[in-house]
Amino acid sequence: MIHKTLKAFPPQFLWGAASAAYQVEGAYQEDGKGLSVWDEFVRIPGKTFKGTTGDTAVDHYHRYKEDVRLMAELGLKAYRFSVAWSRIFPDGKGKVNEKGAAFYSDLIDELKANGIEPILTLYHWDLPLALQKEYGGFESREIIKDFTAYSTELFKRYGDRVKYWVSLNEQNIFTMFGYKTAVHPPGIKNEKLFYQINHHASLANASAIQAFRKLVPDGRIGPSFAYSPAYPLTSKPEDLLAAENAEELNSHWWMDIYAWGKYPKAALQHLAEKGAAPVMEEGDEELLKAGRPDFMGLNYYQSSTYESNPLEGGTSEGEMNTSGKKGTSKDTGIPGLFKTAGNPFLEKTNWDWNIDSEGLRIALRRISSRYRLPVLISENGLGEYDRLEEDGTIRDDYRIGYLQNHVNAMQQAITDGADILGYCVWSFTDLLSWLNGFQKRYGLVYVDQHEEGQHSLRRIKKKSFDWYKGIIQSNGENP
Ligand code: BG6
Repeated sequence: MIHKTLKAFPPQFLWGAASAAYQVEGAYQEDGKGLSVWDEFVRIPGKTFKGTTGDTAVDHYHRYKEDVRLMAELGLKAYRFSVAWSRIFPDGKGKVNEKGAAFYSDLIDELKANGIEPILTLYHWDLPLALQKEYGGFESREIIKDFTAYSTELFKRYGDRVKYWVSLNEQNIFTMFGYKTAVHPPGIKNEKLFYQINHHASLANASAIQAFRKLVPDGRIGPSFAYSPAYPLTSKPEDLLAAENAEELNSHWWMDIYAWGKYPKAALQHLAEKGAAPVMEEGDEELLKAGRPDFMGLNYYQSSTYESNPLEGGTSEGEMNTSGKKGTSKDTGIPGLFKTAGNPFLEKTNWDWNIDSEGLRIALRRISSRYRLPVLISENGLGEYDRLEEDGTIRDDYRIGYLQNHVNAMQQAITDGADILGYCVWSFTDLLSWLNGFQKRYGLVYVDQHEEGQHSLRRIKKKSFDWYKGIIQSNGENP
């Protein structure tokens, strides 16, 4: 559709920015916090870029007031952050660590005092290590009860002040990286287990949403899904089928469950044939159906392109680029189903991520039409090298270009009929990029933090900070 005029962004649109506990807080052993699986994983040699850890991260735990001051200066309408489960329950369950709970209560108050809507993520990958050790974390159905109890505690404590909640962040990524490609904790490669633990995570998600309905009836909750819309490489029907396969196995597998409590048919059939389909127990389907969210959280970074992949000798394991050396990633796929392919029409970042703002519009349209749910864009941003110039500025025009194009795409999607609640730039400050260290930067605010050498943790506004301020002030009209 080519529109003659575009609809305006809604007046209450949540112009936001986001972060996650492990990536910003630091203070990993302070005030009674327990360890998370990430605190252990980053200590295994070779797992993260130059062995980076979140021990200090960008020290948000101690500097949150300064960070909120900067958010207020930017004019943010919303800030999405996550709670570290092991700050609330150091062992994942049992007695609340009051100091940890107080930190988030203070952060929420600080945000509200500055007119910023808090968007609280319950789980952004930092599972309490104690639960992983005790019963394998998501490997056991025990997690459903413990995650619900943890979530319930947060609903009770913060539900009077927090009205927007994200349940699980990128369930597709943390399950796949944790149990299929083994690049995240617990670093296991087992396809059958991957589908089973994922099923438990879906049940935990639904169970927490069910508890939410009783405790925060005037709030809205949804998961954040990392959706990378699938494109066929060519108009060859085999390539279109490959893209359909990828869409089902990489995306509908999760979003259909969130919205309808059902796995997509062809994908389920394929996994059953392989003996990898999850084991469902009585009552699972009812619980999943009861977990329909109020919105679909969308973390959008890129689209993916697929072509057919032969059963014999096809491509399987790929390689991620975590070094920032362009062109070092390798295609991945499932023989007989699909394999990734370079899209000749798209530029890539230095970490080989496709730059495709039109893909955001496509994602928003597909989600809106298929699921009939509003969308909260809970993450979108550009990870790149940033340079602090001698005059103390960071001129990230490439990020401004990236974000501007995505804001435009969002407005196109609104005009197409998508109901979008808000847009969170990833990220507010620079932060630790899980496997890529501090050299891959996303922030609107630069933080002087590096793997090596001096780091003062000083905050410096980037050029994109001023650009976003203008966007917010004009409610999305390019000033
Ligand atoms: C999302 C995560 O996958 O993408 C964030 O929710 C993450 O936590 C972001 O930082 C960017 O990914 P990366 O690997 O570049 O840090």
